[in-house]
Amino acid sequence: MKEIDWANLSFGYMKTDYNVRINFREGAWGELEISSSEQVNLHMAATCLHYGQEAFEGLKAFRGKDGKVRIFRLEENAARLQSTCRGIMMAELPTERFKEAVLKAVKMNERFIPPYESGASLYIRPLLIGTGAQVGVRPSNEYMFLIFVTPVGPYFKGGFAATPYVITRKYDRAAPLGTGIYKIGGNYAASLRASHEAHAAGYSAEFYLDAKEKKYIDECGAANFFGIKDNTYITPLSSSILPSITNKSLMQLAEDMGMKVERRPVAEEELTTFEEAGACGTAAVISPIERIDDPENGHSYVIAKDGKPGPICTKLYNKLRGIQYGDEPDTHGWVTIVE
Ligand code: PLP
Ligand code: COI
Repeated sequence: MKEIDWANLSFGYMKTDYNVRINFREGAWGELEISSSEQVNLHMAATCLHYGQEAFEGLKAFRGKDGKVRIFRLEENAARLQSTCRGIMMAELPTERFKEAVLKAVKMNERFIPPYESGASLYIRPLLIGTGAQVGVRPSNEYMFLIFVTPVGPYFKGGFAATPYVITRKYDRAAPLGTGIYKIGGNYAASLRASHEAHAAGYSAEFYLDAKEKKYIDECGAANFFGIKDNTYITPLSSSILPSITNKSLMQLAEDMGMKVERRPVAEEELTTFEEAGACGTAAVISPIERIDDPENGHSYVIAKDGKPGPICTKLYNKLRGIQYGDEPDTHGWVTIVE
């Protein structure tokens, strides 16, 4: 194997040794299969190809200073995948099967788990797709669940640094009663143009406003939003954003740190009042926000006045990473150690 430059990994795909698969046929999930092929063999009329019956997840495994490998909150990802499956009428994979598959995929690719010192991690990508051949718009009766893993570095260039974001008014990612709360490919397809334009203009990512009133902050294309002021952690409550497991964890950590936590609609104007803000997610971890521009409205909300991550973002980041890498006690039982 070519030497991997662990410390300089980007958030990209790298081939690993194995992936795992479980098929759903005749009303039941089958045995777990191990594959070394990067290909899937699909019927051309599969519902995932035509009607978007496709769900995915994203979680990470971390190698600690003690050499142990820890997976963060995998039961939460299992539950969110089940919720997505109910949302787009796919067969739900039981939590125990999800766990078995994650552990197998991580163990079989042990040599790709980055060393502690690199600050990198192993990204775990579960995928669940409708495989039954159908032309009518109906849920499939056959599904494939698959997990591949790949070593990754930071999602946003620069890692833990304050960077600029932009509000997009031209595009919506999800409708108020649509599929924004589910982790399905269609939401990401809907974000591609806005994301491309944001990157081309030099921003880390695009922010969406609520689609109905265009008044409240929803989230980025791949991360939730939080703001900090008056010792309070504030994060949007919205029917069109993905329930982020990182955000849920940060709310708990903020509370542990003696902060107040508020989950409520966050109007765009409120951005002027935050002392700090961040984008958070499995891939993004905490990406501190330097400023959010709203060019179509002529506003620029500067949050990190000195251009640096603020003290609370830094403390939350260190605490979260500490738990993930095993440097801090896992007081909430969030970590599964790979035996
Ligand atoms: N929002 C969107 C749209 C995402 O794609 C992600 C990434 O999974 C998140 C938020 C963050 O969620 P989590 O913290 O569970 O990774
Ligand atoms: C994640 O944070 O796991 C994501 O899925 C974000 C992105 C890569 C889609």
